[in-house]
Amino acid sequence: MSDTAISIRNITQRYGAADESSAVLALDDVSLDIKKGEFLCLLGPSGCGKSTLLNIVGGLFKPTSGTCLVNGRPVDGEPHPDKVAFVFQESTLFPWYTIIENFRIALKFQGIAQAEWDDRAMRALKAVGMASFAGHYPEQLSVGMRQRVNMARGICVETDILLMDEPFAALDEQTRMVLGEDLSQLLAATGKTIVFVTHSLAEAVFLSDRIVVMSARPGRIKTIINVNEPHPRSPDFMLEPRFSELRNECYALLRDEIRAAMAAQRDPQPQNAGA
Ligand SMILES: Nc1ncnc2c1ncn2[C@@H]1O[C@H](COP(=O)(O)OP(=O)(O)OP(=O)(O)O)[C@@H](O)[C@H]1O
Ligand SMILES: [Mg+2]
Repeated sequence: MSDTAISIRNITQRYGAADESSAVLALDDVSLDIKKGEFLCLLGPSGCGKSTLLNIVGGLFKPTSGTCLVNGRPVDGEPHPDKVAFVFQESTLFPWYTIIENFRIALKFQGIAQAEWDDRAMRALKAVGMASFAGHYPEQLSVGMRQRVNMARGICVETDILLMDEPFAALDEQTRMVLGEDLSQLLAATGKTIVFVTHSLAEAVFLSDRIVVMSARPGRIKTIINVNEPHPRSPDFMLEPRFSELRNECYALLRDEIRAAMAAQRDPQPQNAGA
C-alpha cells in the first residue's frame, strides 16, 4: 500500500477569466506529495494561495488545472468528509447549542450513526482536556477554550486527514504554544496526516515534519525544509540551537517573498515620483 496520503499534481488556480484585468493567478503549477502520518506546514506571505491549496485538497472546489489525489483517489472538487476534516481559524460553533450538541450536529452531517455520536464527541473532548465542558454553551468558554473545542470537533469525525487553516491565529502566544503541544501529542497518538497553515515561524518549526515555504503570489513552492524531530515534541525542543537555526532559515527564505507581496499590494507609484 502506498504511504502517500495526499498527492498534489501540477495545480494551478486562477480566479476570474484569464483575459479579465481583475484575474488573479493564485497558484502556479504546485506539486507535492504528503506522506501518511506526516505533519506538513504551509508557510508563505499573505495572499500566496495557502488557503486556496488547502481548500482544493479538501474538495471545496476544483482547481483551474492539475489534480489532487487523496488516498490515491482524485478529489475533483468533491468534498470527502469521511476522509478529510477541516479546522478553521474562527471558531464556527453554533452559539445556541451546547458543546456536545454542536458535536452531534457535526457527526450527524458526517453520516455517523447516532449511537456513536456521544462516544466520539467525548473521546475528542477528552483528547484536548475539555470533556468537563461538554454541557457548556460556547459563550461560557474563553477564546482559547473555544478554539480547543473547535480542534476537538475536527478530531471527533475521526478522519485520517486534518486540514487546519491558521487554527490558532486568534489566540495569545502562550495558549497557542500549549495547543501546539496538544496537537503534537495527538499526532503521535493517532498517526493522523495534518496539513497546517500558519504565519508563525516558531509554530511551524515546533509542529512540522516538513515546512513548505511558498513564494509571493502566484504561489509556488520555494523550498521544503525538513525538521527531524520525533513527535510528541517537548517544549525543550524550542530551547535547542537547532530550533532557532530552523526558524531563522524560514525567516531568511520568507523575507524577500513578504516584501514582494507587500509591494504588489500597494497602490501603483506615479511614473516620475520624486522628479
Ligand atoms: N474566491 C476568490 N475570488 C477571487 N480571488 C480570490 C478568491 N479567493 C482568494 N483569492 C485571491 O487569491 C490569492 C490567494 O488567496 P488565499 O486566500 O489562498 O491566500 P493565503 O495565502 O491563504 O493568504 P492569507 O495568509 O492572507 O490567509 C489572493 O490574492 C486572494 O485575493
Ligand atoms: Mg489564508
